[in-house]
Amino acid sequence: MTRKVTKAIFPVAGLGTRFLPATKSVPKEIMTLVDRPLIQYAIDEARAAGIEEFVFITSRGKSALSDYFDDSPILEAELERKNKPELLEALRRTNMESGQIAYVRQARARGLGHAVACARRLVHDEPFAVILPDDVIAADTPCLQQMVEAYAETGGSMVAAMEVAPEKTSSYGILDVEDAGKQTMKVRAMVEKPAAEDAPSNLAVIGRYILSPRVMQNLNGLDAGAGGEIQLTDAIAGEIDGGEGVHGYRFEGQRYDCGSKAGFLQATVAFGLARPDLRDELAAFIAELNLSQGQS
Ligand code: G1P
Repeated sequence: MTRKVTKAIFPVAGLGTRFLPATKSVPKEIMTLVDRPLIQYAIDEARAAGIEEFVFITSRGKSALSDYFDDSPILEAELERKNKPELLEALRRTNMESGQIAYVRQARARGLGHAVACARRLVHDEPFAVILPDDVIAADTPCLQQMVEAYAETGGSMVAAMEVAPEKTSSYGILDVEDAGKQTMKVRAMVEKPAAEDAPSNLAVIGRYILSPRVMQNLNGLDAGAGGEIQLTDAIAGEIDGGEGVHGYRFEGQRYDCGSKAGFLQATVAFGLARPDLRDELAAFIAELNLSQGQS
């Protein structure tokens, strides 16, 4: 029997330099896809997977993020007065109960592994999830929920996986697996951001993890790895031999890399087209653009 996963860590301390100047005063995680900030997609996915405690690893300049989860009585009263039940409901869905959410400051940027380790005092002897809000995944069954179901069979640690273009391996953690064709694959090795010629495959880790508490222990005292940073990948790799094992899980759904501008724009268009209230107008606009480009 695996233990229920009820805690999730959201590393949100990054500077978001790729989106400057926007991120000069707005945390990247508050940037919106249609009308929801990136972080809201991550929270909704975590809730759907049964997560009850949310740990944010933040840094200086991220106060807009913690403000976002507070109740907003003035706005709520206004929407009630104006009789806008749908907006009121959307607003209330963003509220987090006090005590359900914790913020830990990462004093210095030292890598994803270090960010996760900042939550060590809040995660004890239980498995925990990690969600990277930059990776937005559109799916009928939310990705983390798919993984929680698969994890109930495997235990140990599990990472979301998908194939990326071979020339992109240096942007990802890359897996070497035993049964590459399967949905749940036993991991033989994993390496952070290998050059294309050194990569064992093009099967990449995507930002959803369910991790054994042993990974937290492995992070303790771990040396800097790729890019001079303390890498989560290295701590997970420590579980492959002699640990509780690591599995890669091919999720069903479409992943958008919202850490890149092109990915963010693609997600904006896709999520806009998926919205009944926006679809027709947006589709007509795109068709018009295609037409005018075809003519030029
Ligand atoms: C992080 C991880 C990497 C993973 C990626 C997924 O990298 O270190 O292993 O493949 O997220 O998005 P980052 O994108 O933070 O450089």
